[in-house]
Amino acid sequence: MNGDWYKDRVFYQIWPRSFKDGNGDGIGDLYGVYDKLDYLKELGIGGIWFSPFYPSPNADYGYDISDYYSIAPEYGDLDIFRKVLDKAHSLDIKVILDLVINHTSDEHEWFRKSRDKDSPYRDYYFWRKGKKEGRAPNNWSSFFSKGAWTFDPETMEHYLHLHHAKQVDLNMDNPAVREEVKKIMRFWLDFGVDGFREDVITYISKPAALPDDLFFQAVKGLRFYDCGPRIHEYLQEFRTDVLDKYDCMTVGEAPMITPQRALTFVSGNHPDLNMVFGFRHMEADCLYKEYLPLPFSLRKLKRAFTSWQNALNGKAWNALYLENHDHPRVLSRYGSERYHDESGKMLAACYLLQKGTPFVYQGQELGMTNFALPSIEQYEDCVARKQYENATKVLPKKFVLRIIQRATRDNSRSPVQWTGGKNAGFSDAEPWFPVNRNYPSINAADEAADPDSVLNFYRRLIAFRTKSRIVRYGDYRELLPLSRSLYVYERTWQGETLLVICSFTEKAVRYRFPKGFAAETAELLFCNYRTAPFDAETGGTARSGRKPHCPRMTTRPYETRIYRITKQ
Ligand code: GLC
Ligand code: CA
Repeated sequence: MNGDWYKDRVFYQIWPRSFKDGNGDGIGDLYGVYDKLDYLKELGIGGIWFSPFYPSPNADYGYDISDYYSIAPEYGDLDIFRKVLDKAHSLDIKVILDLVINHTSDEHEWFRKSRDKDSPYRDYYFWRKGKKEGRAPNNWSSFFSKGAWTFDPETMEHYLHLHHAKQVDLNMDNPAVREEVKKIMRFWLDFGVDGFREDVITYISKPAALPDDLFFQAVKGLRFYDCGPRIHEYLQEFRTDVLDKYDCMTVGEAPMITPQRALTFVSGNHPDLNMVFGFRHMEADCLYKEYLPLPFSLRKLKRAFTSWQNALNGKAWNALYLENHDHPRVLSRYGSERYHDESGKMLAACYLLQKGTPFVYQGQELGMTNFALPSIEQYEDCVARKQYENATKVLPKKFVLRIIQRATRDNSRSPVQWTGGKNAGFSDAEPWFPVNRNYPSINAADEAADPDSVLNFYRRLIAFRTKSRIVRYGDYRELLPLSRSLYVYERTWQGETLLVICSFTEKAVRYRFPKGFAAETAELLFCNYRTAPFDAETGGTARSGRKPHCPRMTTRPYETRIYRITKQ
């Protein structure tokens, strides 16, 4: 039953708390979303992914869920969600929800009941005795806290949490837990949603013995719970028992996954998932995590893009993204705040025309940037706080704060900048999190009025890609893979070629167009500068008795050009 509709759409991710406040309490909500659906339609969006809006103690802002069947009062209720969903559908916008089933909040009723050793809920989670007194059951580490186990003095056992201590891992080996998951899926699909983004889905199957991580594997990021022993079995079960019965799609978050491994989830006749989000291309300026910064390497970025494009070609479908709520703003990382508009547009072109379904994160379409806060107390991101606490034990506070400012997820969680007015038009009340100071120059209202804005570039590019068959079907080929400053790729389909040129530097770089490219037959579809000249001396015209030269260009800072070349 799974339709292919997700392949022709551009998705937009909403992180509800910071999207738009509709009822004046300083917190983004579904009323605000309702008011902005027309804006999304104008942007050309065909699908929305909602980060969690369910009741949650917010230890990890919604990713610690205490009730899967309703909506946190601060975001609205089922009635307003019904309205949002109906209006979205009437605008031909699909809606997918975040399905967070690797863990629940410790305040979820299942977990509260599971504290009783005799309760059937005990086995919903991983409760284990320590190895020795005072020692955790194994050596697993947590992403958000020190160890992956927390001790409960009442029952003298520890519970497992791969993330925050308030995000308790569910025991998917227990069939009752899988039934709960299916019930949640059915509830929302029956409500009318069109699918799910599945949170850290590759972690849901833990090996029964919960063996210690091996040091040499773990430093490479290989863990026993990553793509664990029964992962495919469980995903198939969810698909057969639930998803196959609806016209819906799924995209799974798959940290650390290689494209080859991704194929085991997304290819074949009855794939586990429709798409997965890989992470490699988010590591071009760091070692695995933004907290271990390195200089930006375009070659690293290109290797990541191209390896996914090549591996999945003809076998599976890519999910494309440059931003989400877990990463700092891409313009501040891979682009340049100095060349704000130029690099913002170039970054759009570099991924929106690849093969796959693009996701745009709220504010990305405006070129929103990172935002450094002066003190650690102002940060809300639990990861930032934890990293600060750990790192300042050995490193100077100022230095650690600088790393946090660059790396924290809060960079992408500041309120969306709607206008140049009070609180950036996000809310009449004091926003729950500070607004980036640059809102007078970077905001949706001003950008909508300026035909050359980043926003309007996104609009045009999305409109183009949505109707373009080359973008949907064409083969992908990277040119100049060794270049450290240019990312060039072409898409070809039925005698037509799309040539995408992206400069990742402010320096001037000479670029010779590929063989067969002639200025006369190449139509410039997009450029982030007003004019797009070729270098004067070659010009692309025939001199007497000589074959025409391939034209050349010299790039301007962060220049992008997109040509359509039609075979003569
Ligand atoms: C995913 C989410 C992230 C969350 C984590 C734990 O990575 O995207 O925001 O903190 O899972 O649920
Ligand atoms: Ca509100």
